[in-house]
Amino acid sequence: MEIVIKDTYEEIAALAGERIAESVRARPDITLGLATGSSPLGIYDYLARAHLKGLSFKHVRTANLDEYVGLSPAHPQSYRYFMEREFFAKTGVSPKNIGFPRGDAEDLEKECERYDLYLQKWARDIQILGLGANGHIGFNEPGTPFDSVTHITELKESTRLANSRFFKTAEEVPSKAITMGIKNILDSKSIILVASDTYKAGAVKDMLEGEISVNCPACALRGHKNVTVYLDKKAAKLLR
Ligand code: GLP
Repeated sequence: MEIVIKDTYEEIAALAGERIAESVRARPDITLGLATGSSPLGIYDYLARAHLKGLSFKHVRTANLDEYVGLSPAHPQSYRYFMEREFFAKTGVSPKNIGFPRGDAEDLEKECERYDLYLQKWARDIQILGLGANGHIGFNEPGTPFDSVTHITELKESTRLANSRFFKTAEEVPSKAITMGIKNILDSKSIILVASDTYKAGAVKDMLEGEISVNCPACALRGHKNVTVYLDKKAAKLLR
């Protein structure tokens, strides 16, 4: 595991962004695993600027980590909507190359199976990850087995509260989500995790120095051979 620590979020986002841009230049039909939340926004900005300078995403294939149960892709708080606004529309990813779990599927179990087959078909070359303050990756909350595949999960109250900043009220945050499992995340050839700010410092310390157990989903990354963790100084402040 490689750990990169810089003073500011902007620096780590630019480093991670350039690494992904280089990979797209080298392999225009690369498959990217994508995340939502604040952590990848600087990376998406970097890639949008690279696109304006000529980098094509036309042949890039994508697979997103997760989606809220009950929200349609057109719902402004859905992750699909977020990705359209923050990444797909700005980089020109072709709609036919976008992979996303449907939170509004009638039969959610079938939807998990469908998405899992998509993930098996399109092996990720790079998976981008943020980190929940409770150590979650995707929506794999503490307690999720490391060999889990796409599944429906009950969100912890702390997660709903943390994500309520995107909704009008905390009650509006869905209580369930559909998420790639930890095994799906570990299947990616390489993984880039970005964490910034003081409130992530505890989760960062647990991920890198804590006991490896299902109580710490991000600890599963320590068993993967190609992970780079990008941290700003504040998120790294509790590390030995
Ligand atoms: C959400 C997402 C995760 C994300 C995490 C951290 O719960 N499901 O994929 O990594 O929040 O979000 P942020 O980057 O906004 O701190």
